Amino acid sequence: MRPTVSVAVKDRIFMTTQRKILVTSALPYANGPIHLGHLVEYIQTDIWARFQRLQGHTCYYVCADDAHGTPIMLRARQDGIAPEELIATVHKEHEADFADFQIGFDNYHSTHSDENRACANEIYLKLRDAGHIATRTISQSYDPEAEMFLPDRFIKGTCPKCGAEDQYGDNCEVCGSTYAPTELIHPVSVISGATPVEKDSEQYFFKLSDFTDMLQQWLRQGHVQPEIANKLDEWFEEGLQDWDISRNAPYWGFEIPDAPGKYFYVWLDAPIGYMASFKNLSDRTGISFDEYWHSETDTELYHFIGKDIARFHTLFWPAVLHGAGFRTPTAVYCHGFLTVNGQKMSKSRGTYVKARTYLDNLDAEYLRYYYAAKLSSGVDDIDLNLDDFMQRVNSDIVGKVVNIASRCAGFINKRFDNRLSASLPDSRLYQELVDAGASIAKAFESREYSKAVREIMALADKSNVYIDDNKPWVLIKQEGKEADTQAICTQGINLFRVLMIYLKPILPRTAEKSEQFLNNELHWHTLSEPLLDHTINKFKPLMTRIEKTQIETMIEQSTEHLEQNNKSTSATEPLVDDPIAEQIQFDDFTRLDLRIVKIIKAEHVEGADKLLQLTLDLGGETRCVFAGIKSAYAPEMLEGRLTVMVANLAPRKMRFGVSEGMVLAAGPGGENLFILSPDDGAQPGMRVK
Ligand code: 2FM
Ligand code: ZN
Repeated sequence: MRPTVSVAVKDRIFMTTQRKILVTSALPYANGPIHLGHLVEYIQTDIWARFQRLQGHTCYYVCADDAHGTPIMLRARQDGIAPEELIATVHKEHEADFADFQIGFDNYHSTHSDENRACANEIYLKLRDAGHIATRTISQSYDPEAEMFLPDRFIKGTCPKCGAEDQYGDNCEVCGSTYAPTELIHPVSVISGATPVEKDSEQYFFKLSDFTDMLQQWLRQGHVQPEIANKLDEWFEEGLQDWDISRNAPYWGFEIPDAPGKYFYVWLDAPIGYMASFKNLSDRTGISFDEYWHSETDTELYHFIGKDIARFHTLFWPAVLHGAGFRTPTAVYCHGFLTVNGQKMSKSRGTYVKARTYLDNLDAEYLRYYYAAKLSSGVDDIDLNLDDFMQRVNSDIVGKVVNIASRCAGFINKRFDNRLSASLPDSRLYQELVDAGASIAKAFESREYSKAVREIMALADKSNVYIDDNKPWVLIKQEGKEADTQAICTQGINLFRVLMIYLKPILPRTAEKSEQFLNNELHWHTLSEPLLDHTINKFKPLMTRIEKTQIETMIEQSTEHLEQNNKSTSATEPLVDDPIAEQIQFDDFTRLDLRIVKIIKAEHVEGADKLLQLTLDLGGETRCVFAGIKSAYAPEMLEGRLTVMVANLAPRKMRFGVSEGMVLAAGPGGENLFILSPDDGAQPGMRVK
């Protein structure tokens, strides 16, 4: 019988033999491929779900495609197909990618499903009947040619603040300002090229402020990480605004039941997709839906997401659930973004790697191991350094763990008829590995995978030292030492088995092959039962080394060269820099106070696609500047660097805070943006003349 486990999850302790857990990852949009950035989350969640099952708990892991919204509608239109066709094709591709990365969903559904329509309608009607829906008429940009309302991202024009052309309707890539699309100079619809007009229409709002007390209490109960709790405090200070959950036709989504011509905004029915995917699973299998979506005491519900969508999951979603009479999440776990070789993923550098391109060249388990070795419970970004990736996988998994089995298996297979000895020669060492299980389990439970990996690899080192010290390859040649050789190899194989139990959530395929070799299923609760007097199977190589050429080929296949790039980008992308601007007088120039500054901190800005928040040292004085350079720089590339700023620019209040100046960068934008750096010797605070 399994012992009772005691697990601390936030402020509560679960004392139970078997926990009942439902876990989700964010639903990927159904208009593009899965890439290595997405996989951070799916691998993180999958390891956690597998760990829970390995502990003997019930853990369902569900997900779905996020199949609604304007971008999907327009992409299908552009491809000349129905949205249903587009989402069906993408669904198949996503499922295949996830399966090949060993992401073990119990169900992978779609938000464009009967279950999701039923759940969305039910939730909406319950919210409406409880008085949490309001309607009012608002004015929005409308494309008179395409005859549709335009999301901000589908309007482009000249920035009202700095005059940069070809900027989106919500913020400027060049100066970082945010504004309403109506403020753009010469706005055009990205869809038809027509000039948008303002048009009134009635919209449906979810009254989020009805849930202020409930959400503040929920926050205090520790359902989110500390970094996210701080962010939530800022949102509470700003005051919770009503949330527009409706969109006008034409829209690709579900029509609101009591409002013909109005559709649920994609972000309303997307998280309901978690519930709908589980409903589909429960209808097929008989698992109780209500147990997981109504009771907060018997079951646990966890959402793994990226930090960019925290607001949807920690404000709107718990409020919607609570308002409609469902349980709220046990916890929402946010992770950071992925950089590759220290930089944002880039098509021109070949580091924007699709899941399929990776799989065409490399084993999924290499990446699962590397991400695990980097992941912690925080929201910091993680870096996939490709040299380190190769070196680490080759040295840890192939060189340390698999090596233990391959050093011992041959003798047992060939000299002892596959039979392990009846006792362990070093049971103290075996026990040491088993005892480490408590701390490794704690690390997995709290998503401190890098800690778990460090501990497992330290045990692998000890196991290799044991084999090095006992040298079965020498002993086997000595007369009368057969039994000793068999015992040492038995010890080695049992140490390997313990390590593979610990690694099973991370390396499920290798664990499966090891089970075949060991002729034994790997379970956490059998850690203290070594395989003795037991017949194993013939050893086959479990994993091969990564060759540099595999990585090089993957990068080459992912590289979009400039000509290729230009063909596929929109005609509005600038290909050359602006012409020289109008002449100014020397006095105009001297009014600019340009200073050398040191970037002492660079951070992502919650909810901003283009901005980084920079803390700048001007030689004693510190400034905060929001810069639209996120498309080209990951924060860690900037920290410690010198650059040039306009120090006497009047402070500008932006949506995210006050920007106290501007840093200078050159280039057309996107990935091709280059901040200026002075020569060696320049010091923060020096004036540029
Ligand atoms: O940001 C995204 O990619 C969304 N498709 C995530 C949705 S998660 C959930 F709410 F459905
Ligand atoms: Zn601008």
